[in-house]
Amino acid sequence: KNDIPSTIVVFGASGDLAKKKTFPALFHLFGQNLLPKRTRIIGYARTEMSEEEFRKRVTSKFAPEADKGLVKKFLDLCEYVSGKYDVDADFQNLRKEIDRLEKDAGIDTDAERIHVYYMALPPSVFVSVATQIKKNVYDESCINRLVIEKPFGHDLESSRELSKDIGALFDEVEVFRIDHYLGKEMVKNILSLRFANVFYEAVWNRHFISNIQITFKEPFGTEGRGGYFDEFGIIRDVMQNHLLQVLSIVAMNQPKSLDPEDIRDCKTEVLRNIKSIKLEDTLLGQYVASADGSKPGYLDDETVPKGSTTPTFAQCVLEVNNDRWHGVPWVIKAGKALNEARMLIRIQFKDMPNSLFPNLARNELVIQVSPKESVYIKTIVKEPGLSTNLAMSELDLTYKTRYHDIKIPDAYATLILDVLNGDYSNFVRSDELDEAWRIFTPLLHQIENDHVKPKPYEYGSRGPEGMYEFVEERTGYKRTGLEYHWEAPK
Ligand code: BG6
Repeated sequence: KNDIPSTIVVFGASGDLAKKKTFPALFHLFGQNLLPKRTRIIGYARTEMSEEEFRKRVTSKFAPEADKGLVKKFLDLCEYVSGKYDVDADFQNLRKEIDRLEKDAGIDTDAERIHVYYMALPPSVFVSVATQIKKNVYDESCINRLVIEKPFGHDLESSRELSKDIGALFDEVEVFRIDHYLGKEMVKNILSLRFANVFYEAVWNRHFISNIQITFKEPFGTEGRGGYFDEFGIIRDVMQNHLLQVLSIVAMNQPKSLDPEDIRDCKTEVLRNIKSIKLEDTLLGQYVASADGSKPGYLDDETVPKGSTTPTFAQCVLEVNNDRWHGVPWVIKAGKALNEARMLIRIQFKDMPNSLFPNLARNELVIQVSPKESVYIKTIVKEPGLSTNLAMSELDLTYKTRYHDIKIPDAYATLILDVLNGDYSNFVRSDELDEAWRIFTPLLHQIENDHVKPKPYEYGSRGPEGMYEFVEERTGYKRTGLEYHWEAPK
């Protein structure tokens, strides 16, 4: 833990993201005694609010059982400053507040200090706020860190423009682009699994792996927030960032060291080896009302423009063109309003060569990111008892049953801690971002220009008709036989 005095300014402090994620994560770190000793938190937003109202907002998403005394101590570190996002005087006032707080806390301004500028803001004000920070708040004598949340542009060109504007103000090492999937326990675990276990790395290649699927499923639709979602669609919302980030960690070669730049170099290299995705390798869907009419369709959401063809489901097949992965198809799939909440990585191995046993099912390694963090390997065994038949079983590492007392932290808490510690391995570098947009931009433009119609699927279903065939035809994926269904141990 570092104890360098730190001031964290949360821009957009009155908004949803700050309320739901940033402040609860800061409180979590505070409760674990992980914030540097002399940390000060300033909320900044346009809304005029009394300290009382601000405190209410800050704590509105804290767990109801949170210790009252602890909450009070946390609030003592927080204060609110209101101001516009483009007015010099307001940012000068913010700087004065920071100076005053540091002075009151007895912080030596000649010693090392960290200033974190956390932008929980809509993209329309990213550049203006970053400009104001640089001009009126940035303190040369501090370590300055800018935290920024997606969307980072909406295609390659706009993302480059944003990177250029931000890059003109802050050095790349000062910029922490959050992709909260990189803060999830099981995503952070991939590196350890792969590079600390001899048997994983030995089979992690085209000689043993048949295909890999990375799947994100949510059981709810846009529920009144469709106006926002409609501008993006599922590809921008989840695939271009979260799923591609996970893919790059699953596919990367072993980095030279655990240095953040070595890790990010290897991830970026993966993306460089992926060609832009084609429409014919994509299946798009949009949810309609559930069969019993109890759940609305996407177009029934009043905030969604009439007749919108924005996909709420997408499945893409791609390849990583390098020695390790040549010929192995990867499927990334994401959808809203499906039958369950689940995020997983499924690695299907090839058929057993020259097998003693006829019609063997394939082994699979599944890393379940959420819910119920687990890793299991679908393993064929002799049916227990007198029978000599085969059965599908599993080697199972479910975190809940293996680690009883561990509370897995929210992704935001681990990422904010990384920001304070200056560890940017789990943040997206600008060249990485650029590659991710290159992979999707032609597809996104084609979908939009040609108004490609997504296939309907019912709210609460598994997705559009034909999606399994689509994957099987393109990847040779074989559904596991032997009547297997994995269940998390009770
Ligand atoms: C966000 C998307 O980035 O990730 C949301 O914008 C999505 O649409 C969310 O619901 C999923 O995150 P999590 O942590 O709940 O899996």
